[in-house]
Amino acid sequence: MNNFIYDIPTKVYFGENQLGHLGEELNKYGKKVLLTYGGGSIKKSGLYDKIVAEIKNAGLELFELNEIDPNPRVSSVNAGADICKKEGIDVLLAVGGGSVLDCTKYIGAATYYDGDAWDILLGKTPVENCLPVITVLTLLATGSEMDAGGVISNPETKDKIGLIFPPMQPKVSFLDPTNTYTVSKFQTASGASDMLNHIMEVYFNMDQDLYMLDCVMEGLMKTIIKYAPIALAEPDNYEARANLMWTSSWAINGYINGGKRQAWSCHPMEHELSAIYDITHGLGLAILAPRWMEYTLDETTVSKFYQFGTNVFGIDAGMEPMEVGKKSIELLKEFLFNTLGLKSTFTEIGIDESNFAVMAKKACMGSVLPAFKPLNQQDIENIFRMCL
Ligand code: NZQ
Ligand code: ZN
Repeated sequence: MNNFIYDIPTKVYFGENQLGHLGEELNKYGKKVLLTYGGGSIKKSGLYDKIVAEIKNAGLELFELNEIDPNPRVSSVNAGADICKKEGIDVLLAVGGGSVLDCTKYIGAATYYDGDAWDILLGKTPVENCLPVITVLTLLATGSEMDAGGVISNPETKDKIGLIFPPMQPKVSFLDPTNTYTVSKFQTASGASDMLNHIMEVYFNMDQDLYMLDCVMEGLMKTIIKYAPIALAEPDNYEARANLMWTSSWAINGYINGGKRQAWSCHPMEHELSAIYDITHGLGLAILAPRWMEYTLDETTVSKFYQFGTNVFGIDAGMEPMEVGKKSIELLKEFLFNTLGLKSTFTEIGIDESNFAVMAKKACMGSVLPAFKPLNQQDIENIFRMCL
C-alpha cells in the first residue's frame, strides 16, 4: 500500500433552500461576480432568477457569460477570461453541469495568463493561480463540483484534453437535488454511466490498497445501480436524486483513490470520441466500458472481476471466478443498455472505424496507456472495433 495525501478543500451546502448562503459566500471574495451558464436550462427551470436575486440582494455587481456548450470549447474559456481581465472580476459563479463548471475553472486560470487558454491545456504554462470558483450544480455526473479537474475541447484541432490543477478546486459548491429534477432521461442515464465509470476506473486496479476503500466503492456503485432507475422513472424523487448527487461528488473527489496508482482506461479512450464526434461523455463510456472489460478479463485480472461481480451485482460467490467475471459484464450491459436505455454500439450513434487509428494513437499518446491492463494503440483499436 502506498502513502497518500487527503485534501478536499471544497465547502458543500447540500440540500434544499441553501441558496440563502450564496451572497455571503460570494462576498468573501469580492464584489464583482461573473455568472457562467450554458444554453438556457437554468432560465427554463427558474434557477437563474433565484441566483440573480441572491446576487442583487447581497449588493454584488453581476456580469454574465452564457452559451457554454456541452463538451465546452476553448473559445468560451478565452471569452470568459477576457471579461475577467477587462472588468476586474473577483469571483466566478458557475451554474450548470460539468461543462459549465469545467469551462469556468479554466476561465479562472486563464485570467492569470496573457495568451490563448489552449496553451494551458497543452501544458505550456503551469496553473499557479485561479480566480475563486463557486458552483451551483444542476446535473449529476462529472464530480466537477468537488474536484480540481476540467476537460476542454478544441474543435479546430479535434482535441479534448482534461487536466487537474489544485488552484481550480471550487471553493464552495451548492448541491441541491431539486435543481436536477429537470434533467432529461438521456442526460440522467449518461450521468449515471459517467459516475459509475469514475468509480470503476479506480476500482479496477491490481494495486493492493485499503479494503475499506474497496467497500466504499462497492457501496457507491450499488447506490448508482439502485437509484438511477428510480430517478429515470420519477425525475422528482428527492431521495434518488440526493443519493446520486452525493455519489457523483464522492466518485471523483479523490477520496476513493487512497494510495492507488491512477490507472484510468475508458476515459482517455472516450475523450477521443467526444473530441471528434462531440458525443455525450457518459454515453461514450457506456459503450466502451463493457468491451474494455471483455478485453481485459483474463487469468491475471479475474480476481478483481470476481470481487466486482459478487459484491456489486450479488453473483453467487460459489461460481467459478471466470464465470463470475463474464456474468458481471453481462449484468453491467443489462444495466447500461436495458435499465438506463443507453445506445449500445458505435454504429447506432454514427461512429465508424475511419478514425480508430488516430483516436487510439492519441488515447495512448503514441505509447502505452498505463492502465489496469496496459493498453497500446493496437489494443485500443481492438476495443474500439468491439464497440461497432
Ligand atoms: O447548457 P444547458 O442549457 O444548461 O443544458 C445542459 C446540456 O445541454 C443540460 N442540463 C444541465 N443541467 C440541466 C440540464 N437540462 C435540464 N435541467 C438541468 N438541471 O444537460 C446538457 C449536458 O450538460 P453537461 O454540462 O455537458 O453535462 P455533464 O455534467 O455530463 O458534463 C460533461 C462534461 O464534463 C466533462 C466531460 O468530458 C464533458 O465535457 N467531465 C468532467 C470531469 C471533471 N471535471 O472532473 C470528469 C468527467 O469524467 C468528464 O470528463
Ligand atoms: Zn467521466
